[in-house]
Amino acid sequence: MDSEQLSLQIKLEASSPQPETVECLGMTFENEEARRAYFTEKLREKLQDPDFRKIEGFPISEDKDILTLSDPPYYTACPNPFIKDFINYWKQENEQKKSTEEAEKYHREPFAADVSEGKNDPIYNAHSYHTKVPHKAIMRYILHYTEPGDIVFDGFCGTGMTGVAAQLCGDKTTVESLGYKVQADSTILDEDGNTFSKLGVRKAILNDLSPAATFIAYNYNTPVDVV
Ligand SMILES: C[S@@+](CC[C@H](N)C(=O)[O-])C[C@H]1O[C@@H](n2cnc3c(N)ncnc32)[C@H](O)[C@@H]1O
Repeated sequence: MDSEQLSLQIKLEASSPQPETVECLGMTFENEEARRAYFTEKLREKLQDPDFRKIEGFPISEDKDILTLSDPPYYTACPNPFIKDFINYWKQENEQKKSTEEAEKYHREPFAADVSEGKNDPIYNAHSYHTKVPHKAIMRYILHYTEPGDIVFDGFCGTGMTGVAAQLCGDKTTVESLGYKVQADSTILDEDGNTFSKLGVRKAILNDLSPAATFIAYNYNTPVDVV
């Protein structure tokens, strides 16, 4: 390699994006592949536990198929053994932000409003499903009842629109498209100018009896690198 080629190679290496490290459940990984490999081994170990396989509704499947379909710890094609870890981790994160007194003071009046959303949003239409709920309708409830960082559980998630809604509670444009106003300090005001909620992502745990539903929900809720 002559000096011109070498200098070109150095320039290319310097300009190509360096892989960013990945944080997951308090651990740092070199990249997503390393995170996946680590938790796939943990899931493989868990699959050896006969009690784990006794959970009602456990898929009739070989381990290799479960492991191939899964993206642990976020999505597993069987009951997810990492849910407890997520809840503990998220609770810890939230406790650092809120005092115990604040957390115990939780009170909300019932959300009483007419909620009507069309079924023509491109996100809604990305995958059809029976009795699918528009994410923008769900967002109003999540914003009313929760604060950023709170955990939302949908045990009948279908395509995972509750997860989409929970994530979009952190998106100013989408929140304002509901008729609310987002202030500079992230406070959300309702149509009458009253304080309604705070802008910020909520965490979602999604479950469904149907493996097809959870697979769709996983894909709906996972960032995609289209480059
Ligand atoms: C009305 S759909 C939910 C649609 C979802 N809101 C969406 O936006 O896509 C109801 C879901 O409940 C699931 N389901 C029914 N019985 C269940 C059970 N016992 N445990 C968990 N999920 C169940 C079905 O598989 C179905 O996906």
